Amino acid sequence: MTGKPEDHLMRQSLTRDYPRIVRGEGPYLIDDQERRIIDGASGGVGPCNIGHGVEEIVQAMTEQARTLVFAHVSMYENQPQIDLANKLCDELAPPGMVRAYFTSTGTEANELAIKLARLYHLCRGNATKYHIISIWNGYHGSSIAATSYSGRSSRRHELHPYFFPTTRMEPPYCYHCPYRKTYPDCGLHCAHALEQAIRHIGPEHVSCFIQEPIGNTLGCVAPPPDYFSVIRKICDKYDVVMIADEVITAFGRCGVYFAINGHYDTVPDLIATGKGISSGYSPLAATLIHEKIWNVLAEAKRSLPGFTYGGNPLSCAVGLAAQNYIQKHNLVQRSAELGSYMYEKARAELTDLPLVGDIHGGKGLYMGIEYVQDKDTREPFTAELNLAGQISDLAFENGLATCPVTGGVDGMLGDVTIIKPPFTIPQEDIDRIIDIVKKTILQANDTIVRQWPAHGSFRK
Ligand SMILES: Cc1ncc(COP(=O)(O)O)c(C=O)c1O
Repeated sequence: MTGKPEDHLMRQSLTRDYPRIVRGEGPYLIDDQERRIIDGASGGVGPCNIGHGVEEIVQAMTEQARTLVFAHVSMYENQPQIDLANKLCDELAPPGMVRAYFTSTGTEANELAIKLARLYHLCRGNATKYHIISIWNGYHGSSIAATSYSGRSSRRHELHPYFFPTTRMEPPYCYHCPYRKTYPDCGLHCAHALEQAIRHIGPEHVSCFIQEPIGNTLGCVAPPPDYFSVIRKICDKYDVVMIADEVITAFGRCGVYFAINGHYDTVPDLIATGKGISSGYSPLAATLIHEKIWNVLAEAKRSLPGFTYGGNPLSCAVGLAAQNYIQKHNLVQRSAELGSYMYEKARAELTDLPLVGDIHGGKGLYMGIEYVQDKDTREPFTAELNLAGQISDLAFENGLATCPVTGGVDGMLGDVTIIKPPFTIPQEDIDRIIDIVKKTILQANDTIVRQWPAHGSFRK
């Protein structure tokens, strides 16, 4: 700890010192030492898709703040909310998405989706369908409910007594296949496991299945191309609502507006979004509802109560401005093109470095560099080393902000550095990102791994 003066803020971790960020300029963060850091993680957890300080958004925000900031959506409607819902459903979302329900966070958007799935079954007289199926190491938010259907074991342990009935399947993680199989000879065992899970629980009890199209807490791991079409078929067969958690992946992060139809040619029943919808300029999220679900709710005249700030005009005006900006500057296309450039360059320049096991990604400006002790056996490092966390701190010192992910392999083990810069980043900064990552990995190998007491067991 640096001996900064004590203040009254309770921070998320009490075991590290946080750099203090005072400004954002385009794809850069500026800290209180006036250091200019490349924002390689779009604000740390990925919302700032268009970069910091974009004047058009500031103007839209100011104008809306002058006009109307709040009039609760349980009593009134407002134009920005309607305009944004229309934009999402008419222009950006996968076909068949006909309604948007706004919340402030991705956690709330997922919970709304879970509640909508339950309501859909209730409206059709299927009151016994309540059970939720998800995957291990998926992440859907930090409320108690979302933690119960998320699969991040380390975050689940202390909250167990509060959980409701959920079941998790093994994730589609080919590099560490939980079934020790190889794609495509595996026959997509991981996807077909959903059918077994539903039958074990009893289809009459299963309400929905939820998964991220590309797993961030797995380390930016994309399932095989035919994975979600199998999931879709099984959900249809057993009348299980399919929910895609696109809180990170939507709005261009994966080089397409929505990863689930853009990369997997699959349309789910509900989509939870968040983060990039407002590009981080104001808290905003939305659950998108397919006409299959909507028609039932509309017929029964059933909806759901929301949250105080859900659909507030200020956040919706900001979301609208952010999406207009993305369209005007063709930034989804840019994410796709620069993302391919970044991924190819990373594969060429980082794969043979020590520590690097695999590089996940290749879909938009979204990439994970996974570290292993042994490149042959793919054995991860021990959790105590917190290698991804230490690499992230080193990278920051070297001028690059990244997002460390740990525990992706089995809940405890696994170290990945996620890179997900703003779509507006210049190509030269992608080159700088790869240079800094390379330098950082070599430094980490010399200073962290070689000085680690368990280094004797380290082979490659
Ligand atoms: C895939 C996914 N779902 C849900 C969430 C929760 O979103 P929020 O933190 O806005 O509640 C996150 C946040 O990181 C996420 O990555």
